[in-house]
Amino acid sequence: MTVLLAANWKMNLTAAEAQHLADAYRQLADEYQAHNVSFIVCPPALYGAALQQASEGSALNWGGQASHPAEFGAHTGDISAKMLQSGGASFVIAGHSERRQNHGESDEQVAAQIQAAHNAGLTVILCVGEGLADRKAGQAENIVTTQLSAALHNITKWESVIIAYEPIWAIGTGEVASPEDIQAMHAKMAEHLTSQCGAAFVPPLLYGGSVNAGNAAEILALPDVNGALIGGASLKIDEMRAIAAHAKAIQSR
Ligand code: PGA
Repeated sequence: MTVLLAANWKMNLTAAEAQHLADAYRQLADEYQAHNVSFIVCPPALYGAALQQASEGSALNWGGQASHPAEFGAHTGDISAKMLQSGGASFVIAGHSERRQNHGESDEQVAAQIQAAHNAGLTVILCVGEGLADRKAGQAENIVTTQLSAALHNITKWESVIIAYEPIWAIGTGEVASPEDIQAMHAKMAEHLTSQCGAAFVPPLLYGGSVNAGNAAEILALPDVNGALIGGASLKIDEMRAIAAHAKAIQSR
């Protein structure tokens, strides 16, 4: 089974830095292809062309960080799934908690984005996750399964869905959910998705939230974890190289 390592560069890097890092990812992706470790880089939209160039003839994949539900139109500052696809992207993140918080994206909007992304032929990385207050109140599983149901209620292309469980309190904070909590949530999501998508195919389940070279081995080895969505550490190629080495070691067990 392939381990998916998705890099979310967020709003970081200059154009020159992005180009340099894209080339380094290309090497890494090609080196690890034979070890069933695959890479998806989600750069700021402006740097899509650099990723497209780096991924040509390579195992490297790239995607957008968000997309508007419409194909084209008067939506200043937005980018559509159709535009990403036409620029060579194969993936797009939907429902990242920073978009839900900073841009007020609702579950309904996330569902519409996923439909548009599927219509454009992209695979979606759907982010779900609870806040700290929800976790303390024992509501984490409820929140996550509600988000899954709402975002995926009329999906037919299940093979073009990847889920990333990202507890909001663990994103960019250095706080990582415990392996027990991650495994419990992933098992719950697998059970929920099995019934929601009619059993045959359960989307890959990534964990995200302060994943780095120091904690990746333990997280990636969990039975219901198929990879990671990595923010801060994805900006450093040495960190990614170390995470990839852990992913490879798990494969050969
Ligand atoms: P982080 O971000 O690895 O910096 O916590 C993960 C994400 O938000 O996707």
